[in-house]
Amino acid sequence: MRNTPALRELRRETRLSPADFIHPIFVVEDRSTAGPVSSMPGVVRITLDTLDREIESVNSLGIRSVLLFGIPATKRPDAASAFSNENVVSRSVEKIKSISDRLAVITDVCLCSYTDHGHCGVIREEKVDNDATLELLGKMAVAHARSGADLVAPSGMMDGMVAAIRGALDSAKCHDTGILSYAVKYASSFYGPFRDAAESAPAFGDRHSYQMDPANALEALAEARLDIEEGADAIMVKPAIAYLDVIRRVKDNFPDVPLAAYQVSGEYSMIKAAGANGWLDEKKVALESLTSIKRAGANMIITYFAKDAAAWLQA
Ligand code: PBG
Repeated sequence: MRNTPALRELRRETRLSPADFIHPIFVVEDRSTAGPVSSMPGVVRITLDTLDREIESVNSLGIRSVLLFGIPATKRPDAASAFSNENVVSRSVEKIKSISDRLAVITDVCLCSYTDHGHCGVIREEKVDNDATLELLGKMAVAHARSGADLVAPSGMMDGMVAAIRGALDSAKCHDTGILSYAVKYASSFYGPFRDAAESAPAFGDRHSYQMDPANALEALAEARLDIEEGADAIMVKPAIAYLDVIRRVKDNFPDVPLAAYQVSGEYSMIKAAGANGWLDEKKVALESLTSIKRAGANMIITYFAKDAAAWLQA
C-alpha cells in the first residue's frame, strides 16, 4: 500500500485542510508599533487600517477562522484598555465582521498585554489575585462578544475563568457567544517569541503559579474536565508538538469535546530559523508537524503557519 502515490493517498489516515487552521492576528492600537516581529519571521503586527488586506488574504486561502490578540497603546495595573468601549480587539472584530461574514472570529481573553506588569491577572501582594481577575475577564469577554466575536478564548489559566465568563456573557444576554478555553496551558518556555509580539512578558517573576507544570499529564485531564463542566464549548492544549501525548490523552478522555491545539511561537520560530539556515526544509517540516498535531487528536490548530500551509496545500 506504499508502492505508488495513489496507493499512499488511499492509505492516508490524516489529511490537512485550510479549514483546520486558526490564523492568529496581532492588532496594535499605536500605529508606530506596527511591523514585523523580529523573533517570528513572517509575522507582522498590523493596525486596524490594514486589517482588510489581511482578511482578504485569509479568505482567499480558504482559512475560516482567526484569533485576535490586541496590543493597546496604554497599559495599566487594572488593564482598563482590555474592556473599554473602544478597546482595540472589539474594534477589530467589528471591522472584520463588516468586511466578511464567512470567518469565525475568536478573541484572546487575557490581561497580560494590557497590564503594565505583564501578568495575566491583577496583582495583589506580588501575586496574581485569581478571583479579582475573574471579574475583569468577564468584562473583557462581554466587550468582545458585543462587538460580534463568535468565540472568546480565555488564555490566562485562572481557576473558574470559564464559569465566570459564561456567567458574565449570559448576564449580558450574549448567549450565542461560545467559549474556547485554554484548558491545558503549560508554563512553557516555547512562548518566548510571542511575548515580543504581544508585549506580554511578565516584568517580575514567572507564570508558574497559574500555568501548568510541563511534567504533568493527569493534571491536564483534571483541567479539561473542570473547564468542560464550567461550560467550555471547546478546549485547548498548548503548546502542541512537545505535548502530543497530552493532546491524545485529552482527546481519548473527552472524545466528544472539540479540541484545539496551539502550535506556539517557539515551535514556529524554531522551524523558521532552521529553514532559513538551510538546515531543514521549512515547508515539509511545518506540514509534518501540523499533520502530527492533527493525528494526535486535535480538531483545529492555531498556527502561525496557517497562511503558508493553506497556500502549500492548495498548490
Ligand atoms: C497570553 C498568551 C500567551 C500565548 C497566547 N496567549 C503567552 C503566555 O502565556 O505567556 C502564547 C502564544 C505563543 O507563544 O505563540 N496569556
